[in-house]
Amino acid sequence: MTDRYAVIGNPIAHSKSPQIHAIFAGLTFQDMRYEAILAPLDGFADAVRAFIAAGGRGMNVTVPFKLGACALADSRSPRAEAAKAVNTLVFSATGIHGDNTDGAGLVADLTRNLGLALAGKRILLLGAGGAARGVLLPLLEQQPAALHLANRTTDKAHALRDEFAARAGACRLEAGGFAELAGRQFDLVINATAASLADEAPPLPAGLYAPGSLAYDMVYGRETPFLAAARAQGGARLADGLGMLVEQAAESFFLWRGVRPPTAPVLEQLRAT
Ligand code: ATR
Repeated sequence: MTDRYAVIGNPIAHSKSPQIHAIFAGLTFQDMRYEAILAPLDGFADAVRAFIAAGGRGMNVTVPFKLGACALADSRSPRAEAAKAVNTLVFSATGIHGDNTDGAGLVADLTRNLGLALAGKRILLLGAGGAARGVLLPLLEQQPAALHLANRTTDKAHALRDEFAARAGACRLEAGGFAELAGRQFDLVINATAASLADEAPPLPAGLYAPGSLAYDMVYGRETPFLAAARAQGGARLADGLGMLVEQAAESFFLWRGVRPPTAPVLEQLRAT
Protein backbone atom coordinates (compact mmCIF):
# COMPACT_ATOMS: atom_id res chain seq x y z
CA MET A 1 0.00 0.00 0.00
CA THR A 2 1.25 3.50 -0.83
CA ASP A 3 2.49 5.32 2.31
CA ARG A 4 0.81 8.64 3.02
CA TYR A 5 2.46 11.88 4.17
CA ALA A 6 1.23 15.46 4.31
CA VAL A 7 2.06 19.05 5.16
CA ILE A 8 -0.38 20.70 7.54
CA GLY A 9 -0.84 24.44 8.03
CA ASN A 10 -3.20 27.40 7.73
CA PRO A 11 -2.99 28.76 5.07
CA ILE A 12 -1.47 25.90 3.06
CA ALA A 13 -2.36 26.44 -0.61
CA HIS A 14 0.96 28.22 -1.28
CA SER A 15 3.09 25.35 0.09
CA LYS A 16 5.79 23.97 -2.19
CA SER A 17 6.23 20.88 0.00
CA PRO A 18 3.91 18.57 -2.03
CA GLN A 19 5.88 19.40 -5.19
CA ILE A 20 9.26 18.95 -3.46
CA HIS A 21 8.39 15.59 -1.87
CA ALA A 22 6.82 14.28 -5.09
CA ILE A 23 10.11 14.94 -6.88
CA PHE A 24 12.11 13.36 -4.00
CA ALA A 25 9.86 10.25 -4.11
CA GLY A 26 10.35 9.92 -7.87
CA LEU A 27 14.13 10.34 -7.65
CA THR A 28 14.46 7.72 -4.89
CA PHE A 29 11.75 5.28 -6.12
CA GLN A 30 9.70 5.53 -2.92
CA ASP A 31 6.08 4.35 -3.03
CA MET A 32 4.48 7.30 -1.22
CA ARG A 33 1.89 10.03 -1.59
CA TYR A 34 2.25 13.54 -0.11
CA GLU A 35 -0.67 15.92 0.22
CA ALA A 36 -1.48 19.35 1.72
CA ILE A 37 -3.94 19.56 4.61
CA LEU A 38 -5.61 22.81 5.67
CA ALA A 39 -6.43 22.52 9.39
CA PRO A 40 -8.80 24.90 11.18
CA LEU A 41 -6.90 27.20 13.56
CA ASP A 42 -8.51 25.44 16.54
CA GLY A 43 -8.41 21.96 14.99
CA PHE A 44 -4.74 21.05 14.59
CA ALA A 45 -4.59 18.03 16.95
CA ASP A 46 -7.85 16.60 15.58
CA ALA A 47 -6.58 16.92 12.00
CA VAL A 48 -3.32 15.13 12.89
CA ARG A 49 -5.18 12.30 14.65
CA ALA A 50 -7.57 11.93 11.68
CA PHE A 51 -4.59 11.64 9.34
CA ILE A 52 -2.98 8.99 11.57
CA ALA A 53 -6.29 7.07 11.70
CA ALA A 54 -6.38 7.17 7.89
CA GLY A 55 -2.95 5.50 7.75
CA GLY A 56 -0.69 8.56 7.63
CA ARG A 57 3.01 7.85 8.35
CA GLY A 58 4.34 11.36 8.87
CA MET A 59 3.71 15.08 8.49
CA ASN A 60 5.42 18.37 7.93
CA VAL A 61 4.03 21.15 10.08
CA THR A 62 4.05 24.80 9.10
CA VAL A 63 2.64 28.14 10.28
CA PRO A 64 0.92 28.48 12.72
CA PHE A 65 1.10 24.96 14.15
CA LYS A 66 4.81 24.37 14.93
CA LEU A 67 4.35 25.07 18.66
CA GLY A 68 1.19 22.97 18.75
CA ALA A 69 3.05 20.10 17.10
CA CYS A 70 5.75 20.35 19.76
CA ALA A 71 3.10 20.03 22.48
CA LEU A 72 1.29 17.20 20.71
CA ALA A 73 4.35 14.98 20.21
CA ASP A 74 4.86 12.08 22.66
CA SER A 75 8.65 12.40 22.23
CA ARG A 76 10.93 15.08 20.77
CA SER A 77 14.45 15.25 19.37
CA PRO A 78 17.00 17.45 21.19
CA ARG A 79 16.96 19.94 18.30
CA ALA A 80 13.14 20.17 18.50
CA GLU A 81 13.40 20.74 22.27
CA ALA A 82 15.91 23.54 21.65
CA ALA A 83 13.76 25.10 18.94
CA LYS A 84 10.61 24.67 21.10
CA ALA A 85 8.96 23.98 17.74
CA VAL A 86 8.35 20.94 15.55
CA ASN A 87 8.20 20.93 11.75
CA THR A 88 8.33 17.14 11.26
CA LEU A 89 6.14 14.45 12.81
CA VAL A 90 6.88 10.74 12.53
CA PHE A 91 4.05 8.33 13.36
CA SER A 92 4.80 4.82 14.61
CA ALA A 93 3.45 2.17 16.96
CA THR A 94 5.23 3.93 19.84
CA GLY A 95 3.39 7.21 19.21
CA ILE A 96 4.03 10.63 17.68
CA HIS A 97 7.68 11.73 17.46
CA GLY A 98 8.48 15.40 16.86
CA ASP A 99 11.62 16.73 15.20
CA ASN A 100 12.77 20.03 13.71
CA THR A 101 14.74 20.01 10.46
CA ASP A 102 14.76 23.79 9.81
CA GLY A 103 18.21 24.41 11.30
CA ALA A 104 19.74 21.36 9.63
CA GLY A 105 18.20 22.59 6.36
CA LEU A 106 19.79 26.01 6.75
CA VAL A 107 23.19 24.54 7.64
CA ALA A 108 23.03 22.12 4.68
CA ASP A 109 22.18 24.97 2.31
CA LEU A 110 24.98 27.17 3.64
CA THR A 111 27.68 24.51 3.76
CA ARG A 112 26.82 22.22 0.83
CA ASN A 113 24.93 24.35 -1.70
CA LEU A 114 26.63 27.69 -1.01
CA GLY A 115 30.03 26.26 -0.06
CA LEU A 116 30.41 28.27 3.15
CA ALA A 117 32.17 26.31 5.92
CA LEU A 118 30.91 27.83 9.19
CA ALA A 119 33.68 26.70 11.57
CA GLY A 120 35.65 29.71 12.78
CA LYS A 121 33.35 32.22 11.03
CA ARG A 122 31.65 35.32 12.45
CA ILE A 123 27.87 34.96 12.13
CA LEU A 124 25.25 37.66 12.65
CA LEU A 125 21.75 36.26 13.22
CA LEU A 126 18.99 38.88 12.92
CA GLY A 127 15.80 38.25 14.91
CA ALA A 128 14.92 36.56 18.19
CA GLY A 129 11.57 34.95 17.34
CA GLY A 130 10.74 31.39 16.38
CA ALA A 131 12.71 31.44 13.12
CA ALA A 132 15.94 32.50 14.88
CA ARG A 133 15.46 30.11 17.80
CA GLY A 134 14.83 27.25 15.38
CA VAL A 135 18.26 27.50 13.76
CA LEU A 136 20.38 28.55 16.71
CA LEU A 137 21.52 25.15 18.01
CA PRO A 138 22.44 23.70 14.56
CA LEU A 139 24.42 26.91 13.83
CA LEU A 140 26.30 26.69 17.16
CA GLU A 141 27.09 23.03 16.45
CA GLN A 142 29.08 24.19 13.40
CA GLN A 143 31.50 25.86 15.84
CA PRO A 144 31.62 29.40 14.47
CA ALA A 145 34.11 31.75 16.16
CA ALA A 146 31.29 34.12 17.08
CA LEU A 147 27.53 34.21 16.80
CA HIS A 148 25.90 37.59 17.42
CA LEU A 149 22.13 37.79 17.97
CA ALA A 150 20.66 41.17 17.04
CA ASN A 151 17.01 42.05 17.49
CA ARG A 152 14.74 45.10 17.40
CA THR A 153 13.62 44.28 20.95
CA THR A 154 17.01 43.93 22.65
CA ASP A 155 15.68 42.06 25.70
CA LYS A 156 14.54 39.16 23.53
CA ALA A 157 18.02 38.80 22.02
CA HIS A 158 19.58 38.81 25.51
CA ALA A 159 17.10 36.18 26.74
CA LEU A 160 17.85 33.92 23.78
CA ARG A 161 21.61 34.33 24.36
CA ASP A 162 21.22 33.43 28.04
CA GLU A 163 19.15 30.37 27.18
CA PHE A 164 21.75 29.00 24.74
CA ALA A 165 24.92 30.20 26.51
CA ALA A 166 25.67 26.77 27.98
CA ARG A 167 25.61 25.19 24.50
CA ALA A 168 27.87 27.68 22.76
CA GLY A 169 31.10 25.78 23.48
CA ALA A 170 34.08 27.80 22.21
CA CYS A 171 31.80 30.08 20.16
CA ARG A 172 31.50 33.66 21.45
CA LEU A 173 27.71 34.05 21.78
CA GLU A 174 26.70 37.72 21.96
CA ALA A 175 23.43 39.65 21.79
CA GLY A 176 22.14 43.18 21.42
CA GLY A 177 20.24 45.67 19.28
CA PHE A 178 20.86 46.78 15.69
CA ALA A 179 22.50 50.16 16.37
CA GLU A 180 25.33 48.68 18.44
CA LEU A 181 26.46 46.65 15.42
CA ALA A 182 28.17 49.75 14.03
CA GLY A 183 31.85 49.07 13.35
CA ARG A 184 31.46 45.27 13.43
CA GLN A 185 32.10 42.91 10.50
CA PHE A 186 30.67 39.46 9.79
CA ASP A 187 31.26 36.61 7.35
CA LEU A 188 27.61 35.63 7.31
CA VAL A 189 24.50 37.70 8.04
CA ILE A 190 21.24 35.73 8.29
CA ASN A 191 17.90 37.52 8.29
CA ALA A 192 15.55 35.51 10.53
CA THR A 193 13.27 38.48 11.27
CA ALA A 194 9.76 38.78 9.88
CA ALA A 195 10.70 42.15 8.34
CA SER A 196 10.83 40.77 4.77
CA LEU A 197 7.20 39.66 5.05
CA ALA A 198 6.25 43.32 5.58
CA ASP A 199 8.61 44.35 2.76
CA GLU A 200 10.91 46.05 5.24
CA ALA A 201 14.59 45.61 6.13
CA PRO A 202 16.01 45.55 9.66
CA PRO A 203 17.72 48.94 10.23
CA LEU A 204 21.36 47.82 10.01
CA PRO A 205 24.40 50.10 10.11
CA ALA A 206 26.60 50.15 6.99
CA GLY A 207 29.85 48.21 6.78
CA LEU A 208 28.75 44.89 8.31
CA TYR A 209 29.83 42.72 5.42
CA ALA A 210 33.41 41.41 5.46
CA PRO A 211 35.01 40.73 2.05
CA GLY A 212 33.69 37.40 0.69
CA SER A 213 30.75 37.37 3.10
CA LEU A 214 27.22 36.09 2.50
CA ALA A 215 23.87 37.78 3.10
CA TYR A 216 21.16 35.16 3.60
CA ASP A 217 17.41 35.77 3.86
CA MET A 218 15.26 32.88 5.10
CA VAL A 219 12.42 34.24 2.94
CA TYR A 220 12.55 32.97 -0.64
CA GLY A 221 11.36 33.81 -4.10
CA ARG A 222 12.41 37.44 -4.38
CA GLU A 223 15.08 39.96 -3.53
CA THR A 224 13.90 41.21 -0.15
CA PRO A 225 14.70 44.74 1.15
CA PHE A 226 17.37 43.09 3.39
CA LEU A 227 19.08 41.52 0.35
CA ALA A 228 18.68 44.71 -1.69
CA ALA A 229 20.40 46.67 1.10
CA ALA A 230 23.25 44.12 1.19
CA ARG A 231 23.61 44.34 -2.60
CA ALA A 232 23.75 48.14 -2.42
CA GLN A 233 26.62 47.92 0.10
CA GLY A 234 28.60 45.55 -2.12
CA GLY A 235 31.02 42.90 -0.88
CA ALA A 236 28.49 40.21 -0.02
CA ARG A 237 27.09 37.28 -1.97
CA LEU A 238 23.30 37.05 -1.72
CA ALA A 239 21.09 34.02 -1.10
CA ASP A 240 17.39 33.57 -0.44
CA GLY A 241 15.85 30.75 1.63
CA LEU A 242 14.76 28.44 -1.20
CA GLY A 243 17.72 26.15 -0.58
CA MET A 244 16.83 25.97 3.12
CA LEU A 245 13.27 25.01 2.19
CA VAL A 246 14.46 22.17 -0.04
CA GLU A 247 17.12 20.98 2.43
CA GLN A 248 14.75 20.92 5.44
CA ALA A 249 12.37 18.87 3.28
CA ALA A 250 15.18 16.45 2.41
CA GLU A 251 16.00 16.03 6.09
CA SER A 252 12.33 15.26 6.86
CA PHE A 253 12.22 12.81 3.95
CA PHE A 254 15.29 11.07 5.40
CA LEU A 255 13.63 10.78 8.83
CA TRP A 256 10.58 9.10 7.25
CA ARG A 257 12.15 6.94 4.55
CA GLY A 258 15.78 6.39 5.65
CA VAL A 259 16.90 7.61 2.21
CA ARG A 260 18.62 10.92 1.43
CA PRO A 261 17.12 12.41 -1.73
CA PRO A 262 19.31 14.46 -4.08
CA THR A 263 18.41 18.15 -3.66
CA ALA A 264 20.23 19.85 -6.56
CA PRO A 265 17.74 18.78 -9.27
CA VAL A 266 14.82 19.90 -7.09
CA LEU A 267 16.35 23.31 -6.43
CA GLU A 268 17.04 23.69 -10.14
CA GLN A 269 13.46 22.81 -11.01
CA LEU A 270 11.99 25.21 -8.42
CA ARG A 271 14.27 28.04 -9.51
CA ALA A 272 13.16 27.51 -13.11
CA THR A 273 9.49 27.94 -12.21
P1 ATR B 1 9.06 34.10 13.57
O1 ATR B 1 8.50 32.83 14.10
O2 ATR B 1 8.91 34.27 12.09
O3 ATR B 1 10.46 34.34 14.01
P2 ATR B 1 8.09 35.94 15.57
O4 ATR B 1 8.33 34.96 16.66
O5 ATR B 1 6.85 36.79 15.59
O6 ATR B 1 8.09 35.25 14.15
O7 ATR B 1 9.38 36.89 15.50
C1 ATR B 1 9.46 37.89 14.53
C2 ATR B 1 10.87 38.45 14.57
O8 ATR B 1 11.03 39.41 13.53
C3 ATR B 1 11.18 39.17 15.85
O9 ATR B 1 12.56 39.04 16.12
C4 ATR B 1 10.81 40.62 15.51
O10 ATR B 1 11.45 41.58 16.30
P3 ATR B 1 10.81 41.96 17.76
O11 ATR B 1 11.21 40.85 18.68
O12 ATR B 1 11.45 43.25 18.10
O13 ATR B 1 9.34 42.05 17.55
C5 ATR B 1 11.35 40.67 14.11
N1 ATR B 1 10.74 41.72 13.26
C6 ATR B 1 9.49 41.75 12.78
N2 ATR B 1 9.32 42.83 11.99
C7 ATR B 1 10.49 43.50 11.97
C8 ATR B 1 10.97 44.69 11.33
N3 ATR B 1 10.19 45.41 10.54
N4 ATR B 1 12.26 45.05 11.52
C9 ATR B 1 13.07 44.31 12.32
N5 ATR B 1 12.68 43.20 12.96
C10 ATR B 1 11.42 42.78 12.79
